[in-house]
Amino acid sequence: MFLGMDIGTGGTRAVLVDEKGQLVASASSEHAPFRTPHPGWAEQDPEDWWRAAQQAIREVLAAMPGVHVDAAALTGQMHGAVMLDKDGKVLRPSLIWCDTRTEPQCVWLHDQFGGGEIGRRKLIELTANPALPNFTLTKLLWVKEHEPEIFARIAHILCPKDYVRYRLTGTYAMDVQEASGTLLLDVAHRRWSKEVAKVAGIPECWLPKLFESPEICAKISDEAAALTGLKPGTPVAAGAGDQGAGAVGMGILEPGSVSATIGTSGVVFAATAAPTLDPLGRLHTFCHAVPGRWHVMGVTQAAGLSLGWWRETLAPDQSYDDLTAAAAEVPPGSDGLLWTPYLLGERTPHLDPTATAAFVGITATTTRAHFTRAVLEGVAYSLKDTFTLFLELGIPVKGVRLGGGGARGPLWREIQANIYAYACERLTAEEGGAFGAALMAGVGAKHWPDLEAACAAGITVAETIQPDPAKVQRYAEGYAGYRRVYPALKGVHG
Ligand code: XUL
Repeated sequence: MFLGMDIGTGGTRAVLVDEKGQLVASASSEHAPFRTPHPGWAEQDPEDWWRAAQQAIREVLAAMPGVHVDAAALTGQMHGAVMLDKDGKVLRPSLIWCDTRTEPQCVWLHDQFGGGEIGRRKLIELTANPALPNFTLTKLLWVKEHEPEIFARIAHILCPKDYVRYRLTGTYAMDVQEASGTLLLDVAHRRWSKEVAKVAGIPECWLPKLFESPEICAKISDEAAALTGLKPGTPVAAGAGDQGAGAVGMGILEPGSVSATIGTSGVVFAATAAPTLDPLGRLHTFCHAVPGRWHVMGVTQAAGLSLGWWRETLAPDQSYDDLTAAAAEVPPGSDGLLWTPYLLGERTPHLDPTATAAFVGITATTTRAHFTRAVLEGVAYSLKDTFTLFLELGIPVKGVRLGGGGARGPLWREIQANIYAYACERLTAEEGGAFGAALMAGVGAKHWPDLEAACAAGITVAETIQPDPAKVQRYAEGYAGYRRVYPALKGVHG
């Protein structure tokens, strides 16, 4: 049996996967919501992730009394900066992935490499990515500037799931997929970038040892065993960030295979044979969790979050099912109503943390159902922006698999297939990152020879949704309108 753990933003999930690659038990524990003491800030306490992880592990083990866990692996929210002192104590709350306070640090970093477009291109050359507020390094630079007394005490830096691994095993480690999102990795060579660390003033001794995702990198300590019910010495594989592990859990391994996942954020993810750079940095280019492969991905900051925000703020009396049932009665294109989902600024393609969301095209005949449908369509248009970049950069798309909450209901699935204009597959059981992590643990334990074999055992396609040419045409017009909204509204707020 293999244990996978996902240290998400909202909570931690632990799953057990058997020798056939089937998920047999799962348990979850919620996190305290992230704190936003100022607009754009987002902080969580690493100790709370550790509490939730212990609880989820205890619960999942209790669901299968006497179970033997052969190996474990972790995944989780990416990019968050966990800063530890020389004794491994947390120095301050973590600035997490959606914290966007570090725009000035991004500018500073580009300046160190020549400034503006030159600096951005140089950084892309070194790390495959430009400086974005989401990435770990910019968060460390903010602490350096604003809390120098804390910065001076840092001895180790980790990402969220790596901190939980540290508590489980006492080992400081990180996989190359996660490390790609720190902006401190030489992504092309799968090693820390000495040059970027030096220029940014990050001592190399702060950086944990790197591993490929399925590699065993640590063992459960006696202390953690007593707290969780795991056996001391259980091997722990390196795992991957949530996007890497989620892709493994959906079988997105081969170059050309692509997933579109709508969770809190939305991601279009493509496996590639080599690092494929976007000279403008609109896509992230990271090492894949598959050894020797890379991936590109475009990120919509507020995907599922858009629908959650819409319901909580403007339709709290309605269930999601009621809202989507009404939206299904509205014609494709929502009678001209458009939603640009920039509730948390936007990454792909605008790289603009100051972007704001908008409904455009409201008339006296617009109903609540139109708004709901426009939100579903607007999120899919935003993900389509990444498919458009794939075309521009020559990144092949051989097949698309849908994941996350956006794959669960028929309406959002159909909207996606028609907006992306690709046949889209739905999996029998899409179990997310924790499942992908468990498959990595199985490869680490040598139960499967590689991730391909693990995915072949555990993943099956339930349904293929074919695009409908008439709707594809309608949505092509809608997408053209959507693309005009961001530039038209930019500047409205000065
Ligand atoms: C990926 C990203 C999100 C977070 C939170 O770049 O920022 O997927 O990992 O889920």
